[in-house]
Amino acid sequence: MKQVKILIVGCGARGSGYGRFVLQCPERAKVVAIAEPIAERRNAVGDAHNVPPEYRFNSWEDVARLPRLADAVLICTQDQMHEAPAIAFAQLGYDILLEKPMAPTAEACRRIVAAVKKAGVLFAVCHVLRYTAYTRKLKEVLASGAIGEIINIQHLEPVGYWHQAHSFVRGNWRNEEESSFMLLAKCCHDVDWLRYVMNRPCRQVQSFGTLKHFRSECAPKGAATRCLDCPAEIEKNCPYSAIKIYLRDRLDKGHSGWPVNVLSHEVTRETILDALRNGPYGRCVYACDNDVVDNQVVNMIFDNGSTISMTMTAFNAHSGRLTRIFGTRGSIDTDSNTMTLFDFLTDKKTVIDTAVKNDGGILSGHGGGDGGLMDAFISAVAEQDPSKILSGTDETLESHLMVFAAEESRKNGKVMDI
Ligand SMILES: NC(=O)c1ccc[n+]([C@@H]2O[C@H](COP(=O)([O-])OP(=O)(O)OC[C@H]3O[C@@H](n4cnc5c(N)ncnc54)[C@H](O)[C@@H]3O)[C@@H](O)[C@H]2O)c1
Repeated sequence: MKQVKILIVGCGARGSGYGRFVLQCPERAKVVAIAEPIAERRNAVGDAHNVPPEYRFNSWEDVARLPRLADAVLICTQDQMHEAPAIAFAQLGYDILLEKPMAPTAEACRRIVAAVKKAGVLFAVCHVLRYTAYTRKLKEVLASGAIGEIINIQHLEPVGYWHQAHSFVRGNWRNEEESSFMLLAKCCHDVDWLRYVMNRPCRQVQSFGTLKHFRSECAPKGAATRCLDCPAEIEKNCPYSAIKIYLRDRLDKGHSGWPVNVLSHEVTRETILDALRNGPYGRCVYACDNDVVDNQVVNMIFDNGSTISMTMTAFNAHSGRLTRIFGTRGSIDTDSNTMTLFDFLTDKKTVIDTAVKNDGGILSGHGGGDGGLMDAFISAVAEQDPSKILSGTDETLESHLMVFAAEESRKNGKVMDI
């Protein structure tokens, strides 16, 4: 099989993680160029892949000025920075792996899809949940007719109290203007996955959601604006304390990976304390510039009258998604690892285990979906076979449009047609 030459745009958490997959299969792919403005990230990823200095660029624009220098590009910049590189690299003829969400508006998503189709390049969005062993098994069970026709699905995305605090109150996805709204940033995965499981078009959506808790008026009396400055009796009693989340619960126990390594490229007690003292992750969760919701419900009705209710909430342990699928001949209860199938005819329960060992790396991230996606994308490019891609233009655009409609419903209080 041909060795796929790869350009990585954005060497942050996702870009460097996909790079590690490439290192595990050198016969199938090689990173030949990178673009990243932060020197220490550029050097770390460049060194890991032996990228020559002249192929280490400061920005994607510098690469886009040159003729095509790789078969495929992995676009792993932040949410607001997907559209311009996606269109530019499509026009240059690169096959594209684009991080989700495609873009923060429906119009921008449509422009990306139009450019990709015009260029005729391969295109996959990182809807990693479609690529998990668990989803593949679930699709197989559903296709076998084991539970008949799906009538209703109940789905919970338990973001988790500390993950919400890290990413959506203090971190990169806290503010809609700078990034995206919560449903797009976090639950475009869920909406896309539910559409994939239901396997038919959605007709209407409706949503409620609020930023209920992470607001200044919910701060404990006497709390400081930084956890390091907070009176000890308040700090020790706060589940969202940055000292608790990054130091007591993680670094002090020897865990220096995500999310601790988001605070500093080099992780030591000193660098993390410095980040807590001066950076965004040391702020009190009640004194941030966050505006994205901390709880949201979405109801969906499909073209055959089947329905879905989906809940996103910050207020739970950080864990796998929970889904219950109710069919005409049986039901399935799942926690993203194990499926319990109940058959109405025999009253029998069958338990199917699809758990993937999580070693903390990107390849086991999202239940093996990150590795599954890279595996599929590299094969698709090597063989020029779009059928390997489960998250291409049309299906991704459709599920993104469902997300935009749901968010509009949350804002205007109306039921939205898709
Ligand atoms: N598929 C998933 O499950 C999943 C999970 C988490 C995040 N994401 C998405 O992945 C994307 C990246 O997230 P991340 O956590 O890696 O972010 P990150 O901030 O760690 O990485 C983004 C990188 O892009 C770089 N960058 C900025 N301007 C650039 C330019 N002009 N040219 C090249 N690089 C540039 C930044 O310096 C940074 O290193 C986001 O859109 C995010 O929503 C997807």
